Amino acid sequence: GLWAVVPAGGAGTRLWPLSRESYPKFLLDLTGSGRTLLQSTWDRLLPLAGSSRMMIVTGQAHTKGVSDQLPELLASNILAEPSPKESMAAIGLAAAVLRRRDPEAVLGSFAADHIISGRDGFESAVTEAVETAKAGYLVTIGIAPSHPSTGFGYIKLGESLELERAPNARRVTEFKEKPDARTASAYLSTGEYRWNGGMFVVKAQVLLELLRRSVPELHDGLDRIAAAWDTPSRQTILSEIWPTLPKIAIDHAVAEPAAKLGKVAVVPATFGWDDVGDFASLADLIPAEEGEARVLGDSRLVITESQAGGLIVPAAGRPIACLGVDDVVVVDTPDALLITTRARSQDVKKIVGKTKKTY
Ligand code: GDD
Ligand code: MG
Repeated sequence: GLWAVVPAGGAGTRLWPLSRESYPKFLLDLTGSGRTLLQSTWDRLLPLAGSSRMMIVTGQAHTKGVSDQLPELLASNILAEPSPKESMAAIGLAAAVLRRRDPEAVLGSFAADHIISGRDGFESAVTEAVETAKAGYLVTIGIAPSHPSTGFGYIKLGESLELERAPNARRVTEFKEKPDARTASAYLSTGEYRWNGGMFVVKAQVLLELLRRSVPELHDGLDRIAAAWDTPSRQTILSEIWPTLPKIAIDHAVAEPAAKLGKVAVVPATFGWDDVGDFASLADLIPAEEGEARVLGDSRLVITESQAGGLIVPAAGRPIACLGVDDVVVVDTPDALLITTRARSQDVKKIVGKTKKTY
């Protein structure tokens, strides 16, 4: 069966002040559904993996938030990192621990902070990905690109793998993480590229073998930590080795070099997918009547005459009135207020980085 691994890291600084270092994006309900992004991720993966095969990798500071939100998660399946080392260390740690528990383990890594619609499409894509992973590939999910974004990985579609139980699986002939704008536009115009959906399905041993080839010091460090994981010396080994591990994303560490070896496959997504990275993409998810404000939260608190395309978040519980400002983003919380425009929402990260104090 599949092990569902959720690397939950990153502060989501482009969504400040909703998302904080102490309370990151995946712990928030950003859609008003009553479930946080992490909980929705859990709900979506549960039918595929079962509760005892769900694993979350997160920072030590967030383990309590994670286990409070996911009461069915087994304590032995929360892996706590001493410090953020990016996605390869997080996913690689899960793979190294799983390989020791079950040498044949197939794992799927799924971001905690995506909004996905279309249950059936998601489940059938992941099921095909698992079949493809059993054939030895590192399997990605390909999203039809809508614009030349520079925030995603791009995968070039190759020939069909002709797998009986995964008829839609194709080889990836190139994997390029976050290309510049010109390259992204050129890729898009060929029609041969998909966005990488940020999900990877692979046998634990295949992933680790690929990592050993490309970043051996990271592989070896993770393997030593995993050897001590289910023993009393876990903390000692972890605090000795973890700080020395290289910081690198799985896309650079493994996906790019493995594609050159012909070891990466893709299953195209037939479901809705959104990476809610900033307030502009969040606004797009909120339905609004023509000329009305998009509100996340209690719309009775928002007073506007007309509001073209902005977003208002009255999270402090007090009314917000806007007049004569188009495309404005106002995010009000009890201890911090953000005012910007949709067009600048990518840059929120920069100003948050400017404050010395962490809010
Ligand atoms: N535990 C842990 N620790 N998780 C981490 C860490 C870390 O230090 N750093 C990142 N992650 C988790 C994130 O929470 C997310 O679930 C996943 O790893 C990917 O990291 P991001 O930082 O969100 O990557 P990205 O959005 O820039 O790019 C990735 O996702 C895109 C799709 O959303 C890449 O895979 C791209 O190729 C892809 O298009
Ligand atoms: Mg992301």
